Amino acid sequence: MTSKPGLADLTPEQRAALGSGADFWTTKAIGPVASVTMTDGPHGVRRQAGATDHLGLAESLPATCFPPAVGLAQSWDTELVRRVGAALGREARALGVDVLLGPGVNIKRDPRGGRNFEYYSEDPLLTGLLGAAWVTGLQSTGVGASLKHFAANNAEHDRMRSSSDVDPRPLREIYLRGFAHIVRTARPWTVMCSYNRINGVPAAQNRRLLTDVLRGEWGFDGAVVSDWGAVADRPAAVTAGLDLEMPGGSGVSDAQVMAAMAAGTLDPADVDRAARNVATLAARVAAGRARAHNVDTTDDHHRLAREVAARCVVLLRNDRGLLPLTPGRSLAVIGEFATQPRYQGGGSSHVNPTRLDVPLDEIRALAGSATVSYCRGFATDDTDADNDALRAEAVAAAANADVAVLFLGLAATQESEGFDREHLELPAEQLDLLDAVVRVRPDTVVVLAHGGVVRLGPVAASAPAILDGGLLGQAGGGALADVLFGVVNPSGRLAETVPVRLQDTPAYLNFPGENSHVRYGEGLYVGYRWYDSREMDVCYPFGHGLSYTTFDYSDLTLTASEAGITVRVGVTNTGSRRGREVVQVYTALPGSSVTRPARELKGVAVTAELEPGAREEISMLLRRDDLAYWETRVDRWIVEGGAYRVWAGASSRDLRVSGLVDVAGDELRIPITAESTLGEALADPRAAAALADVFGGMSESMGDASALGVDMMRMIASIPLNRLTGFGVDPQKLDALLAATGD
Ligand code: BGC
Repeated sequence: MTSKPGLADLTPEQRAALGSGADFWTTKAIGPVASVTMTDGPHGVRRQAGATDHLGLAESLPATCFPPAVGLAQSWDTELVRRVGAALGREARALGVDVLLGPGVNIKRDPRGGRNFEYYSEDPLLTGLLGAAWVTGLQSTGVGASLKHFAANNAEHDRMRSSSDVDPRPLREIYLRGFAHIVRTARPWTVMCSYNRINGVPAAQNRRLLTDVLRGEWGFDGAVVSDWGAVADRPAAVTAGLDLEMPGGSGVSDAQVMAAMAAGTLDPADVDRAARNVATLAARVAAGRARAHNVDTTDDHHRLAREVAARCVVLLRNDRGLLPLTPGRSLAVIGEFATQPRYQGGGSSHVNPTRLDVPLDEIRALAGSATVSYCRGFATDDTDADNDALRAEAVAAAANADVAVLFLGLAATQESEGFDREHLELPAEQLDLLDAVVRVRPDTVVVLAHGGVVRLGPVAASAPAILDGGLLGQAGGGALADVLFGVVNPSGRLAETVPVRLQDTPAYLNFPGENSHVRYGEGLYVGYRWYDSREMDVCYPFGHGLSYTTFDYSDLTLTASEAGITVRVGVTNTGSRRGREVVQVYTALPGSSVTRPARELKGVAVTAELEPGAREEISMLLRRDDLAYWETRVDRWIVEGGAYRVWAGASSRDLRVSGLVDVAGDELRIPITAESTLGEALADPRAAAALADVFGGMSESMGDASALGVDMMRMIASIPLNRLTGFGVDPQKLDALLAATGD
């Protein structure tokens, strides 16, 4: 057995036993291999000291609740996310946790997805950049990450059986791209395979994904861990590339592994590989533990959580410069969420926060001497509440104040891990309240809290100012106050399009599927790729977010090299307040030979905080790998040559400067076979030369093409070579052609 020192002394039973957990959160200590403790993740440490579960039910020890991924992604800031990862690592270490189960990097395919709050974006590049930063930060503290849920786990409906039926191009270009980037650049210690099936094959038994792609192509050198309860057939899973089944404790699947080896249906080498990978994980953990430094981080991390949360707030709209709030103006704060904030999602990621900022208190703390009244306005989970009376009280308060600040959103009961939403609507009583408040107090600011996208048309139609926090974690209350009063100038950007209506969304007709199959019929056209390619109206586009200042883009230069395209662009603060700008770079290849979205995000940079009038030159590399598409005819990535259009701007619909740059393409030679068409053969120089002979016979049987008055070549280009014999071509000449041009 080729194993780590010490592992060779283990019996086959012991090696098999290493491949399943000891209990809910830990692995077994066997021989030289120490036990590893894991826990959720990702936006806080859910360390359970008593009862254990994976649904967020039993208590956990207090830990800082940072903004969940839905909020964090709105920062678009890798450095900020790296700092969050490092802070999580310090807390995990202090709580005795070796592997934190995150980040969740599945693509938000449909806004109804129940776990969208745990995922970053509808875009794979942004997801990959942020996920890699999180893993790098976490692992810098000696705590391992678990990149999840691998793969194509984009809905909660029937989540333990459903097959995500997805074509190769979207699988590679949309659903795996972020995972690939994170594995390659941040090297997570573990990857967690998902519950679902992919094109019919359970993730845990998917050799193509767990072995060929993850290890073979991406060079993953860690342990593949199952999602909790994802393994139905452990011997098949071990063969496919699974190393560790979680949770564990029963010993049932260890016995199955032994039986399968005895029966000759499971190769002992695969069991050894799994044992080795678990041993490697334990060795990494041991080195990480040696770096433990237990200091009380509660205050520091709460401060960090506030700083981060403020950077995640998106200013969707700000008519008449209503925000930031002018000192001295009286405020009517309205809405249950102002006193009982909605700040994280439900399920396995649910954290017990060390403290919790109450937005109303934080607003009062910054309002100085201005009067701040409060009304509940509506009730979320109280069926006995009289919403009419609550509304009337709130309207009266708004009428008596200079500005109304209205907290709206989704209650915890309306969205969670474990189920998908059926619609995107805010509760009707909240929208009624908004209408009534704006009628008496036009200066109304809406503050939104929600894990999944909500339909904002009704809000945008009446509220002159809208702040969208998504979910902001335990310090969201303070962060929102900072943004409302201009202590922080908002720089958050939407990581997900807000559509006009559910019926416009790309997967509308293919979600959540039926009979345990969901067809990814929209293909590559996920999120803004769909809306922008179809030139559809959206409520707020991908990447949108305003600032209290303004920015100008100038002097775009594009330089192609072997590494990709270097983009340089000047960004100037043209307004009157300090602020930072998130610069987004999109590309397209006009006239591409393959189907492509109208534009795709290929680069992101955040400026420093710029003083009014200050300019920063941003320089970023659009990596050549990121320009590639997945060529299904040769099963590999190809950069198509040509003049790429490159835009820099402030959203996918707010493109400020653009240019063209020539990029040299990869060589792509499609093998010429009997099934190749005449057109394909003519496009291949070697085959085209050999075709001259073949054409002689064919033109006789086809008669005079010009007499048809059409481009004869276009008509016949689609004829496969092996059908040409029916048109008088000599089969022997055809065979000769194939022999001469085949690979
Ligand atoms: C979730 C994972 C989580 C695990 C452990 C599963 O139900 O899908 O995200 O890490 O439980 O709690």
